[in-house]
Amino acid sequence: MRSSDVTTALLPALALPALSLAVALAPPSEPRQDGPGFLALPFTRTLNTPRLRSRQDVDVPLYNVTTISYLVELSIGTPGQTVRVAIDTGSSELWVNPNCKTVNTNDEYQDCVTDGQYNPDDSSTFHDLESRSSITYGIGKVELAYVTDNVALPNSTIDLKNIQFGAAIATQDLSEGILGLSFGNHSNPRALPYANLVDQLVMQGVTKSRAFSVALGNQDLDDGGVLVLGGLDTGKFSGALATLPVLGPQLGENIPRYWVQLESLGSTINGKTTTYSNSKIPVVIDTGSTLCNLPSSIVQDMVRDTNAQVDSQGDVLVQCSIANNNAAFNFAFSGVTISIPWSEFILPIPGSTTQCVLGVSPSSSVVLLGDSFIRSAYIVFDQDHMQVSMAPWADCGEHQQAIGSGPVGNVQGACNSSSSTNTTNHNSGSSLGGPGWVMLSLLGMISFVFASL
Ligand SMILES: *[C@@H]1O[C@H](CO)[C@@H](O)[C@H](O)[C@H]1NC(C)=O
Ligand SMILES: *[C@@H]1O[C@H](CO)[C@@H](O)[C@H](O)[C@H]1NC(C)=O
Ligand SMILES: *[C@@H]1O[C@H](CO)[C@@H](O)[C@H](O)[C@H]1NC(C)=O
Ligand SMILES: *[C@@H]1O[C@H](CO)[C@@H](O)[C@H](O)[C@H]1NC(C)=O
Ligand SMILES: *[C@@H]1O[C@H](CO)[C@@H](O)[C@H](O)[C@H]1NC(C)=O
Repeated sequence: MRSSDVTTALLPALALPALSLAVALAPPSEPRQDGPGFLALPFTRTLNTPRLRSRQDVDVPLYNVTTISYLVELSIGTPGQTVRVAIDTGSSELWVNPNCKTVNTNDEYQDCVTDGQYNPDDSSTFHDLESRSSITYGIGKVELAYVTDNVALPNSTIDLKNIQFGAAIATQDLSEGILGLSFGNHSNPRALPYANLVDQLVMQGVTKSRAFSVALGNQDLDDGGVLVLGGLDTGKFSGALATLPVLGPQLGENIPRYWVQLESLGSTINGKTTTYSNSKIPVVIDTGSTLCNLPSSIVQDMVRDTNAQVDSQGDVLVQCSIANNNAAFNFAFSGVTISIPWSEFILPIPGSTTQCVLGVSPSSSVVLLGDSFIRSAYIVFDQDHMQVSMAPWADCGEHQQAIGSGPVGNVQGACNSSSSTNTTNHNSGSSLGGPGWVMLSLLGMISFVFASL
């Protein structure tokens, strides 16, 4: 599992000039009217033991921790070729075909091969855009050739035409293709000079707005994770969705990301609640990052509370037994607090029954909330209305509905609260009800295709 690509923007490594060429060459997409309006995709959740690395800027192998990859299945080309890609709200582009031979461990190799590869020569709808680029993530890098082809979504009739994406030419430290769900050219041509998958879902009439929702589910579940494109699943949260504005670009960047204001972070230990100093900060919500990257002063407070040790690489090592403590970290946003029990905020280290890793890493620059946070939340990302809506994650079955073209309101979850989280419920009249969503399950078929790069 890589860390976020958010740091990419801080490096001059993005090959944006190369991308502009691709825009000129991209064929126009055909509008379509027959989509059901939303699509829910369950995730395939792969348990793997990649090397966890702490710093975005230092390529140091650290502990082998067990993490979960959140993959969705796509069917690319004609006839369709099945590939699985990791969902990433921290980046904007779709690419496939990591070079499995360059990964670090046997497990990663097996997962990489199982995810499948796309062979353009076997597709009658493939077009070569004759343009190349590279993406440098926080960890890992891909060099890619831009192509267009049709992309079908599983268990639906949705078959998007002429989608631009990357076929990897070379990869470093990446064992999974990536589906970037951040901003495409509609929101800001500087974010990306072509329409990405989120844009195309609207352009081709599948969804009514550039909005989708994510429930990863907790660490123990074998399934239950779901990505709903253009829709919501009220069976995945309790209380009412709280709506947060997406903040403008931060860190001197000029491109939009899913930045929201964290009002405070603190802990509740045996009923005693503390708020950490200087914890009112903008954070990026990034499903592509295993851990949360937080300022070191906050990490120091968490270290003190959990009696942790920080090793020389910045890993926060804790006793696994803290999972039994009556304690939680509280991430407070305007209108909703996500309380994460310590048992959900630690990652096991294979081969060790006593030592675990806390789901944070100190960062002096990019502050983001990764999977260790996101598993405890249900999150709606809405680019058209520049808002992120959030509620505590729960699981009480499937209750899917379209978001439609208006903003998501304070929709009430179908589940009973499993914690003492307190949210207020104003019914502001949501725009739910029309067609316009797609559910992508994060569960999938396995295909065995060997890397041929
Ligand atoms: C991580 O796992 C790999 C392969 O399983 C092994 O070679 C390596 O020594 C492990 N590293 C640590 C720090 O445990
Ligand atoms: C985005 O790029 C697509 C080509 O991928 C183009 O058709 C569309 O007009 C562009 N939209 C904006 C707002 O720039
Ligand atoms: C929620 O709690 C109420 C009252 O305890 C119960 O009747 C209902 O079935 C519960 N709903 C779910 C989804 O668990
Ligand atoms: C939730 O907040 C309301 C009003 O602020 C308060 O009356 C109620 O006791 C709270 N409930 C819980 C479970 O904390
Ligand atoms: C498609 O639906 C079948 C039957 O419900 C299910 O078993 C399978 O996992 C689904 N595939 C995907 C990729 O969602």
